[in-house]
Amino acid sequence: TAFLADTDLLKDKKVIVTAGGTRENIDPVRFIGNRSSGKMGIAIANAAAHAGADVTLIVGQVAVALPQSPRIKLVHVTTTEDLFNALQEYFPIADVLIMAAAVADYRPLEIVDHKIKKSADNHNLSLELTETVDVLKKIASRKRSSQLVVGFAAETNDLLQNANHKLASKNADMIVANSVAGPQSAFGSDNNQVTILQKNQAPLKWPQQSKKQIANQLIKLISTKLKQGD
Ligand code: CTP
Ligand code: CA
Repeated sequence: TAFLADTDLLKDKKVIVTAGGTRENIDPVRFIGNRSSGKMGIAIANAAAHAGADVTLIVGQVAVALPQSPRIKLVHVTTTEDLFNALQEYFPIADVLIMAAAVADYRPLEIVDHKIKKSADNHNLSLELTETVDVLKKIASRKRSSQLVVGFAAETNDLLQNANHKLASKNADMIVANSVAGPQSAFGSDNNQVTILQKNQAPLKWPQQSKKQIANQLIKLISTKLKQGD
């Protein structure tokens, strides 16, 4: 049976959503990860599918069930490099990219090929890390004028100042800024409070609401922007 979209806000648009956390291996049994649950990105992928889009969900580590929809193609990735490679493949034909993934900023300089053993002599252990590629920045730098790129900003302090800097430095059309400080943290929660930043526009401070509501509101805003062609 055909999957019927609820609206045609994004009818026939190709939308890529990245969700969840990337992981960087330390040795065969350990990795560096983060607290991303994937809930926000998955909610956005579902909202886009319900709006009639043809969705590619590029997904790292998540703590919740993945969507099963004929409108959502799942692409699994582990590391930041995997995510970058997947986007190099899918971004050129996309209309919209929404980067909700929590991407590792650093990875171990070397992956040890055996399990690192503890030793009685070493009370301290240092891992040398090296930066990963800034996927959003690199991909958005290749953006055509018809393509819309939405980034996220996770901040513990100076939210708007830091997020505004990301809007400019990453060549994004929009940044969804959210606070990840303290017990109200967005990580793992079903709710969030976000502020939308766009070039030459006043910030939109949305109320605390469910991630599903945020996703629907975001899809509406994106469809309006696509129609304006800016
Ligand atoms: N991002 C990315 N590649 C990275 C790091 C982040 O594509 N190596 C993306 C995230 O998916 C998000 C946006 O960039 O859409 C902002 O991520 P965030 O972690 O808030 O910012 P960073 O630029 O990594 O800076 P910092 O962590 O130091 O605040
Ligand atoms: Ca980061």
